[in-house]
Amino acid sequence: MTEGRSCPLAYRYSAGALCQEPRSVSEDVLYIIGGLYGNPWALDEIEQMALAEERQGHRVRLVFNGDFNWFNVSDSLFRNINNRVLDHTVSLGNVDYELAQPSAGAGCGCAYPDSVDQGVVERSNRIMERLQGVAAEHPDIQRRLSQLPRYWCLIFGGLKVLVVHGDPESLAGWGLAHEAFAEGNDNKLSEWFIASEADVIASTHTCLPVLWSGLVGERSRVVVNNGSAGMGNLQSDPRGLITRIGFSSPVTEPVAGIQRQGLHVSLLPVSFSLEAWLPEFDRLWPSGSPAAVSYRNRILNGTSLTADDVIFPSLI
Ligand SMILES: [Fe+2]
Repeated sequence: MTEGRSCPLAYRYSAGALCQEPRSVSEDVLYIIGGLYGNPWALDEIEQMALAEERQGHRVRLVFNGDFNWFNVSDSLFRNINNRVLDHTVSLGNVDYELAQPSAGAGCGCAYPDSVDQGVVERSNRIMERLQGVAAEHPDIQRRLSQLPRYWCLIFGGLKVLVVHGDPESLAGWGLAHEAFAEGNDNKLSEWFIASEADVIASTHTCLPVLWSGLVGERSRVVVNNGSAGMGNLQSDPRGLITRIGFSSPVTEPVAGIQRQGLHVSLLPVSFSLEAWLPEFDRLWPSGSPAAVSYRNRILNGTSLTADDVIFPSLI
């Protein structure tokens, strides 16, 4: 296996198996939070957003679909992030998986495609090595991480909401990446929706947001990828994004949203304090360190995407 390029066998599953044991949720709103990347101020802000919903009478379930760890390479921040996240509904990302039970030769477990520069891959492997060194000092947290599932299938308002980290074939799959939608992945989407019988598939992992809707088998379906909760996603915009699913309108203005048969699926901005997070990030990852080289510019300036680039009309 090439470190950081391939995915371990333990990451694999089949789309048909994912919704065989669905779990009902009774809350009014789901927040699906992928890619917190160890940012405690983003977590503060998400908790505040949930409180604001509750003041409007909405009960919110926080669902973390992986990679809540990444930049949090101090003992205190590692414990802070994990202890707070693990109180909620949680499934593993490749980062968390490799902290709980490192796979030989997996590197970061990111399964980066060929389009990703080798320098990025090698820096991610070095970030993972450093984070694994911190995790090894906290076996109680490693044990809790090792007990987490790789995905959830939630029954929400009578709909099946499939929550994965990568795609419906692999924990670190790139089949629901922005790039995959840009290239056209309708055949795969049809296959996955028919096999899983999901109404909504929520993903993250690939770090750029997507909101897709269409008909498969004459049923309305939605795919949503929140990009990153703890890092900027759009042009000149350092705010994170989370997925909100509910039968009511969000209480904050979404970056992008769709409504299908009364269901609102929205990408909500996470306006965390960059003034607080950046000095902490710089202390943990000084100039020249792998995370500073790979991520500092994105943390400050976001990506090249506009909000319109996130929406994908159906070609099915
Ligand atoms: Fe990931």
